[in-house]
Amino acid sequence: MDEVVFDPSSAVFLANPYPTYARLRRQAPIFYYPGWDKWIVTRYHDVDALLRDRRLGRVIHHRLRPEDRPPTDPAHAAFEAIQKGSLLEIEPPDHTRVRAVVHQAFTPRHVRMLAVRIEELCTRLATRLEQIAGREVDLIKAFAEPLPVTVIADLLGVPEDDRSNLLPWSKGIIGMFEPERTLEMERRAESAAAEFAAYIRQLMCEKRSRPQDDLITRMVRVHDADPERLSEGEVVANCILFLNAGHEAVVNVIGNGMLALLQHPQEMLRLRKDPSLCSSAVEEMMRFDTPLQFFERYVLEEMEYAGIKFEKGAVMCLFYASANRDPDVFTEPDRFDITRDPNPHIAFGLGLHYCIGAPLARLELTTAVSTLLSRFPELRLVTTRPEYHPKNVFRYLKELRVAF
Ligand code: HEM
Repeated sequence: MDEVVFDPSSAVFLANPYPTYARLRRQAPIFYYPGWDKWIVTRYHDVDALLRDRRLGRVIHHRLRPEDRPPTDPAHAAFEAIQKGSLLEIEPPDHTRVRAVVHQAFTPRHVRMLAVRIEELCTRLATRLEQIAGREVDLIKAFAEPLPVTVIADLLGVPEDDRSNLLPWSKGIIGMFEPERTLEMERRAESAAAEFAAYIRQLMCEKRSRPQDDLITRMVRVHDADPERLSEGEVVANCILFLNAGHEAVVNVIGNGMLALLQHPQEMLRLRKDPSLCSSAVEEMMRFDTPLQFFERYVLEEMEYAGIKFEKGAVMCLFYASANRDPDVFTEPDRFDITRDPNPHIAFGLGLHYCIGAPLARLELTTAVSTLLSRFPELRLVTTRPEYHPKNVFRYLKELRVAF
């Protein structure tokens, strides 16, 4: 166990973590990494089983006596406040109650009603691309970023004039989720959280005086009718969660996924010849270069798994990105195959916290990819050595320069 080599901050790992995952799956599928004081889990069957195991939870404070709970760090007060009550930071029965309130906005039926708007947005963005002199662009800035932020802001009811703040706030906040974060990243997350929360509270007041057909108005109504069903803190925390979760990963799948497609011309050709393969291509994009590489779970009670004893409070990092390349489940897992079937990837997670936005993400991604392919028959890569941000949880490109 002591000899497991794992250096998550090395440039080689950050550029391409998949060979390391392959070695870990073979050598040490579950091991304790002292650098993070956490357990690393890399095989599909373990990640799958542990995500369904109720002895684990996203948080543990509800299982600790008040006197055993760590005190709030005043330097992180605003960040911790926006976490409290967010779906990702609560467990049943609170999780069941809050998820039931917001679930309706994300059902496949409701999401289908957004199809026309998403199509319009993609068409408008493609038209703007066509007008760019020199016909060369960073696809992430010019196409991937504006799409999901607009969709989620529409769904929530954030006025157009206020939207420019959303991306910087969200980028600031997610820095706090990186195990290798710096003090500066923490400071940025804290101030982004304070500004974002103040903004949402002000927006809630506006929705009270001028209600609209949007998710914030609906949440405010539920809260005003019965604060026990949804507290004000829960409205704020979940608006921020939806705005962050609702766009970061979609941007990153468009970036990582289009890169994979452009680097595999045969697959690109198959998709161009048969656009009905678009949904399956999108699933493969999420599997092949998973945008959220891992999520953590706390051990809620002392337990044994795979012959290892885990203390209450231990933390496991479940590597979805590694599970998605596990040869026990995926034939030739390092091959990018847009017709892969079956493709039971876990890029959206599993179990209680399964991504509520999966139907919306799928609709955005298939519309984005099919628009790009149909509008740009000559689309090709300009970036020769694509660079990723040096992050462990969020895997995304610094830029994706393409010509068309
Ligand atoms: C391709 C895009 C997306 C990916 C890869 C993704 C991935 C994930 C994953 C892996 C989780 C589970 C986290 C865990 O296991 O701890 C999750 C949860 C969540 N996602 Fe997504 N997501 C995407 C898009 C979206 C969108 C568009 C929304 C829209 C609001 C969204 C909202 C959420 C929320 C609210 C949760 C928490 C659910 C809960 O705890 O009950 N996601 N997502």
